Amino acid sequence: MSEDNQFDLIVIGAGPGGYVAAVKAAQLGMKVACVDKNDRLGGVCLNSGCIPSKALLDSSEYYALAKESLSAHGISCKEIDLNLSTLMNRKNEIIQQLTGNVRSLLERHKVTIIRGMASMLNPKDVEVTLLKEDGHASSEKKILTAKNILLATGSKPLEINSMPFDGKTIVSAKDALSFDKIPDHLVVVGGGYIGLELGSVWCRLGSKVTVLEMLPSIAGVMDGQISRTLLRLLKKQGIGIELKTKVLKAEAEKETVLVTISKDGMEKETIRCDKLLVAVGRKPLTDGLNLDRAGLQLNASGGLDVDPFYRTAVKHIYAIGDLIPGPMLAHKASAEGRAAVENMAGLSGEVNYDAIPSIIYTFPEAASVGLTEEQVKERNIPCRKGTFPFSGTGRARCLGETEGLVKVLAHEKTGRLIGVHIIGARAADMIAEAVLAIEVGASAEDIGRVIHGHPTFSEAFQEAAMAVQG
Ligand code: NAI
Repeated sequence: MSEDNQFDLIVIGAGPGGYVAAVKAAQLGMKVACVDKNDRLGGVCLNSGCIPSKALLDSSEYYALAKESLSAHGISCKEIDLNLSTLMNRKNEIIQQLTGNVRSLLERHKVTIIRGMASMLNPKDVEVTLLKEDGHASSEKKILTAKNILLATGSKPLEINSMPFDGKTIVSAKDALSFDKIPDHLVVVGGGYIGLELGSVWCRLGSKVTVLEMLPSIAGVMDGQISRTLLRLLKKQGIGIELKTKVLKAEAEKETVLVTISKDGMEKETIRCDKLLVAVGRKPLTDGLNLDRAGLQLNASGGLDVDPFYRTAVKHIYAIGDLIPGPMLAHKASAEGRAAVENMAGLSGEVNYDAIPSIIYTFPEAASVGLTEEQVKERNIPCRKGTFPFSGTGRARCLGETEGLVKVLAHEKTGRLIGVHIIGARAADMIAEAVLAIEVGASAEDIGRVIHGHPTFSEAFQEAAMAVQG
């Protein structure tokens, strides 16, 4: 095999797990190839996930502010006009810039970027079917070999047989980021991250939005008090949210969708809408990888199990991100990518799973790190709680955003922080301090003694920490 096709590391997938790992490996002196089927690097996060959804959330928030909140500041916007194509073009330009930045970053680190579909030939060799500019397979194939292989192919939306995606009326998040007109009635299956974020976008832009969630609460992973507060605030904004409502099936009929639901396990009902967003979770993406030829078997979730070094059952094949257990979050994948590569290089790469923030970018934002109050109770951990409402901070009053609270959970004996949960404006950025506090093993007293700028939202975290001590 020619030297050109021999590497220290082949990374399959250039999402936030894969590209970060490829750069780290190059920095550690490895000869690296990174294979991705998409010409625009950055994976789902940059192309059809985190970044485009935040661009739409930010634009739609400005629109809602102009329509509803600025008058309280004495600013009147008489004729507010929304140009959906400008809004979408702005989002597309952001994707273009950021995916271009990922390519430059890899090029600067001399990572060989190969556009193609990767497939394992055996435990050592990877066959790549090169793709043409239009994304279709060419007849050209490359065979690559490496000392180590890192699988970072991410995940895909869970598709339910009784409501198959058609890309027009029954859609996944990717399509709901690019509607060419504002739906009259958008029904969302699932009150999780995607349903709440994209439901917020289209509600602010003028759609009637109904979120159908089969569980008794939205945002099931969040602390109960935060989830209940979020439910109240989203409903106040006009988002229809039906709990204990299971969607059984959906049928596209011309330009509309007929959705069959069952409420509280009772009789079936139907709802008609013009768009149905199915956001019921994601599953590991291993299509076409032929992992069996490398000697790998998928676990019950369709992903891969790894050891603490991120090695699969075949020791020189590593896996990270949405392919392995844990929350499907971009920053978790990046951390695992860096750690896996450090382990390959003989360093000790680790991820602290107790200090991974999770954030829902609704308005207000909900952000959390560590254990929820429910988990603390379930595990019988002796714990003290402190809460502080944003209405008590001067800065929140100045902005006119007083809804929400900070909740700090600390160990009863040591005072060490166990969990921090925030709902309110700027929660997504505020949680970083709590993540750092948990990472370094800080106590509630430490946080109470740290001087926080005045007036800031972050004073609410300090106050909640002080409330732990009474
Ligand atoms: P999710 O797991 O967050 O929520 C899915 C919801 O759908 C659950 O609450 C579930 O009970 C409900 N559900 C399932 N079947 C149903 C049915 N037949 N009828 C009614 N409700 C039903 O999944 P989601 O929102 O699709 O997001 C997927 C993943 O993407 C998340 O796990 C998250 O890791 C990631 N993500 C993260 C974001 C962030 O960090 N801000 C934003 C968007 C996605």
